Amino acid sequence: MNNTIRFSSGRSVFRCPICEEPLLCEKNSLVCSKHHSFDISKHGYVNLAGGTKGSTEHYDKESFQKRQQILEAGYYSHISEELIDIVGSLPNVVTVLDCGCGEGFYARELDQRLSEKQLIAFDISRDSIQLAAKSDKGGVQWFVGDSTNLPIRSHSINCILDIFAPANYAEFRRAMSRTGYIVKVVPGNGHLKEFRELAKDHLRKSEYSNQSLVDYFEKHFELVERKLVSRTFEMPLEDREIFADMTPLLFNIDRSQIDLTKTETLTVEGEILIGRPLDREEPKKAKGGKSNKAKNTKPNASKSKKSKK
Ligand SMILES: C[S@@+](CC[C@H](N)C(=O)[O-])C[C@H]1O[C@@H](n2cnc3c(N)ncnc32)[C@H](O)[C@@H]1O
Repeated sequence: MNNTIRFSSGRSVFRCPICEEPLLCEKNSLVCSKHHSFDISKHGYVNLAGGTKGSTEHYDKESFQKRQQILEAGYYSHISEELIDIVGSLPNVVTVLDCGCGEGFYARELDQRLSEKQLIAFDISRDSIQLAAKSDKGGVQWFVGDSTNLPIRSHSINCILDIFAPANYAEFRRAMSRTGYIVKVVPGNGHLKEFRELAKDHLRKSEYSNQSLVDYFEKHFELVERKLVSRTFEMPLEDREIFADMTPLLFNIDRSQIDLTKTETLTVEGEILIGRPLDREEPKKAKGGKSNKAKNTKPNASKSKKSKK
């Protein structure tokens, strides 16, 4: 998609990371009234990170490529399908902001399947956003940015998505419309339980509970619904290896200490928290979502990697 069309379509939700004035799309840049200007790259993203370094420890280009292989092979598709259903059925949602989007799998899926929504997605890592934008055949508005200082106009976003990524609830609340929603995915208690068992001697805790994340969420939002989405996959060794390389669970562990041949299955489990502002305003009118066809792709990351070569 042409970059000017990508960033001028829909509502303009961006604000200048320097002076906080609204940013508008002019030719190949986003520009504010004080003439701060941010170029849209040829791949279709803009860097609005201000002074941030633009990378996070452990997440490098290779880990995002591996994450993409796993996600595109379908190992997280039960979660993306549920998210499509949820976001598609929330009333009055036009603008959707995916915070800490990584290599962009969920934003691309939502953009494709809920084409009437305006998808905006960002991550603090420039490597991840480059990969996300290059892989996008649709019209997601990608930017490099920081959840702790969103270059987004106040109350302009109808749905904040935060999928396995760090949150800044004060900023999310500021960016959200007063009738809006937050949809957050946290690991389920059984997420990657087979890897946890294999690595138990090297992890601080061999059992995981997401309760503290849920409690913290409930301090900031009214919890409307909580949905557990879980699938256990038979997974070829090659995919288990790619998975082990990309998951933050094993980032600090010497991989030679973990024998991946000792499990043939892996559980991918997310708990989806749907929330709304504690001081919510009731929307004026409600609108139903469109139905979504479920995809039926059998996961295989190593195969999908090969087929791309
Ligand atoms: C576990 S990954 C999840 C990525 C993606 N949501 C997914 O589920 O595939 C966490 C992501 O959060 C990003 N991240 C960490 N701190 C961030 C911040 N302050 N602002 C924006 N993104 C951040 C990381 O770069 C990483 O891509």
